[in-house]
Amino acid sequence: MLTQLVISNLRNITELKFTPYSGINLIIGDNGSGKTTLLEAIHLLALGRSFRTRSLKNIVQFSQQRSLILAKLPNDIPIGIEYSLSSGLKIRLNSAPVTKLSELVAHLPLQFIPANCHQIFEQGPRYRRQLLDWGVFHVEQQFNYHWQSYKKIIQQRNSALRQRKNNDEITLWDQQCVLHGETITNYRINYLERLLEEFINVFTSLCPELKGSEFIIKYKNGWVKGSSLQQALLDSLERDKQLLYTKSGSHAADWIIKINDGDPAEILSRGQQKLYFIALSLAQTNIANKANGSKKSGSLLIIDDLSSELDIDHQLLVLQALSRTPAQCFITTTDYSLSERLKDIDHRMFHVKHGRLV
Ligand SMILES: Nc1ncnc2c1ncn2[C@@H]1O[C@H](COP(=O)(O)OP(=O)(O)OP(=O)(O)O)[C@@H](O)[C@H]1O
Ligand SMILES: [Mg+2]
Repeated sequence: MLTQLVISNLRNITELKFTPYSGINLIIGDNGSGKTTLLEAIHLLALGRSFRTRSLKNIVQFSQQRSLILAKLPNDIPIGIEYSLSSGLKIRLNSAPVTKLSELVAHLPLQFIPANCHQIFEQGPRYRRQLLDWGVFHVEQQFNYHWQSYKKIIQQRNSALRQRKNNDEITLWDQQCVLHGETITNYRINYLERLLEEFINVFTSLCPELKGSEFIIKYKNGWVKGSSLQQALLDSLERDKQLLYTKSGSHAADWIIKINDGDPAEILSRGQQKLYFIALSLAQTNIANKANGSKKSGSLLIIDDLSSELDIDHQLLVLQALSRTPAQCFITTTDYSLSERLKDIDHRMFHVKHGRLV
């Protein structure tokens, strides 16, 4: 949870001081007023990167040299991120420099729901894997160790493949790869079982018209069905030598929750697809919070442009579900009419105009 936020020289925001509410913060403003930039600031704080640009030089206000975002977590713990055109990115948490991004991520669990989140189905498996691993990361303390170790081993194996080393030098990595890969798979499968249960609850509350449907998880572990990872690596050795990289393994996993045995992309309307993604994020936040209790500073949920793809009744269902979710939420919209419909929902409203709160 953020108790205070100060943004300087970030895109069109020259200086903005914000005392957020612990529950739902609804940010309303016209196109180009700075709403998404405010969410971008929170994303930068929690993850050390932007959701809009790979190159952080784009975030610095034109003709300025650096952007600065400062915030306070509960118990007055300061967190700050500075990006300067000359010296790059610096992050400080509780007055000490942060060198590992996983440290930051563990401290401030954040789920970002982009305006076009219904595109989850059009994206490649990497996107869905990242979503899944976010969830596993926040409930299984050992997951990050296994995942980082696994990635290093696959890099070494790929490097041996690229250098066209002999079979022994390639398969040298397989035993460690199997050890971490199978642990990762077990974590993911256990997590997905929990996720399914939470997801059904949240999704059917957002989409009452789909109550009574059958929901099942489909998880592909990343290698041939029915085979062990060890066997799959051996069986695909000749193929990997041609490709010059390791094709099968936990890095190739994918998953989806099917509805009435169908692919959501082929069944759901666009609005329902967006609700599906929102339900996944809320379900993940619920699980992370149950697992961590008061150990962390509380989850953040940021939703850019709630009104896109959703009619007013479904937007209200989302806001009601959010008010039941133990997370601090930042939601942007251009729809001023929403404010008149929120009487029963605990929230605070903020107006943004030309990069300022008014
Ligand atoms: N580096 C920069 N320096 C100054 N202004 C910038 C920079 N990058 C982007 N902008 C401007 O910042 C403004 C804020 O954009 P932002 O995306 O936050 O608006 P928004 O309120 O989310 O609008 P919309 O409703 O259209 O999504 C835009 O007018 C954009 O042109
Ligand atoms: Mg925007």
